Amino acid sequence: MTDIELLELASKARENSYSPYSHFSVGAALLAKSGKVYPGVNVENASFGATNCAERTAFFSAVAADEREFSAIAIVGNTAPCFPCGVCRQVMAEFCDADFKIVVEDKEKKAKALTLGELLPHTFDL
Ligand code: THU
Repeated sequence: MTDIELLELASKARENSYSPYSHFSVGAALLAKSGKVYPGVNVENASFGATNCAERTAFFSAVAADEREFSAIAIVGNTAPCFPCGVCRQVMAEFCDADFKIVVEDKEKKAKALTLGELLPHTFDL
């Protein structure tokens, strides 16, 4: 699975975003080490704090399917690049090592890959 292919799956997932309040739609595609890809979208709520980000939707779906090990996630939103929020980074850190790959689109719509270690150094863990 190339970074571009994973971004395409994130774009496809984004079509199902439920974002009537912010109108900021986000799609994610999470590649598990099993080879399966789990889509995620942001799911908003009238009680704004109950909103779930696309990245966490993808992780929680994958964990519900008994996946625990992951290689990469691609994220696509209204703006490029669309980096994961702090809460989603912490959820990634629960399951992934510092070399977990986060793929976003740059301003020229090309794939840009960073690691979780770059986006969340000095991670809190128990
Ligand atoms: N959002 C995500 O889905 N992922 C992020 O990493 C940042 C924000 C969503 C939440 C909300 O539905 C909308 O984008 C605007 O914040």
